Amino acid sequence: MARKKIALIGAGMIGGTLAHLAAMREMGDVVLFDIAEGMPAGKALDISQAAPVDGFDSTLKGTSDYADIAGADVIIVTAGVPRKAGMSRDDLLGINLKVMGAVGAGIKAHAPDAFVICITNPLDAMVWALREYSGLPPHMVVGMAGVLDSARFRRFLADEFDVSVEDVTAFVLGGHGDTMVPVIEYSTVAGIPVPDLIKMGWSTQEKIDAIVDRTRKGGGEIVGLLGNGSAFYAPATSAIMMAESFLKDKKRVLPAAANLTGQYGVDDLYVGVPVVIGENGVERIVEIALNDQAKANFQTSVDAVKELLDACRKIDAKLG
Ligand code: APR
Repeated sequence: MARKKIALIGAGMIGGTLAHLAAMREMGDVVLFDIAEGMPAGKALDISQAAPVDGFDSTLKGTSDYADIAGADVIIVTAGVPRKAGMSRDDLLGINLKVMGAVGAGIKAHAPDAFVICITNPLDAMVWALREYSGLPPHMVVGMAGVLDSARFRRFLADEFDVSVEDVTAFVLGGHGDTMVPVIEYSTVAGIPVPDLIKMGWSTQEKIDAIVDRTRKGGGEIVGLLGNGSAFYAPATSAIMMAESFLKDKKRVLPAAANLTGQYGVDDLYVGVPVVIGENGVERIVEIALNDQAKANFQTSVDAVKELLDACRKIDAKLG
């Protein structure tokens, strides 16, 4: 049986980490694409030389030619610029929109059957633009944000409760930004919702509110510490989990930026919701009843995404 093929568009900090993870897990053969000459080939060669030590047989190729992504089963897009200290994700919009134009055209021409996961920020707008530029069916184009945001939330909750991260589940909705909506009623330790844990004296509402706030600003905290660039280990791991759910038809239920067609009262917009990812891409959008507070917060998030899409349309009138 032929190996699967994973194409990574953007071979920077996240792209390189993705290549290492995908190869080590033997998810398939890896193509690293970047406009920077030589760099993707250098990273591919470096990782391939770890193979004899770690014992993986995936092949890695670096390239600046879109023809090399032909036949890719999964494409993960990180092309563009990351933010620097003091910048918001939205500050990246103009430059990264142009990058999505080029990447979308490359995918359309060479790998129109792939499952595409976008990571480039500002995420909810860039994944929408990538879908528009690539012309792929909406269920085959998805944005990675929710798995990362909920991982951050789980990390902080596990630390607060002093329990294993494995036993903490978290539920995060909305856009990838300061308006994201961590929903504590659906976040649990071994099935016990966080509000019940507060009643049991495991924490206080104030502490949980502070954790929610830290989760919303989780990316910025890392940008501030790194001084140059943004998070890459956890974002890469999160996208790999989504890719594996597709490649292995695991049908995992994961939060992701998906194209809504009426769910949650939202039409034709990408925003973070729970989805089922299997061999057919986004196979189902999970629509749950929200309480009034969560509904209002979700709407604020949706409005913020709408503003970004309007800004995209102003830059490129061809966008629908
Ligand atoms: N086509 C392909 N690659 C491109 C293009 C393009 N048109 N424009 C830029 N790139 C490449 C750059 O050469 C660089 O190697 O994208 C890569 C981005 O890598 P980094 O600068 O290291 O950024 P990274 O930390 O990987 O983040 C990438 O993901 O989380 C988001 O906000 C983050 O938008 C940023 C993206």
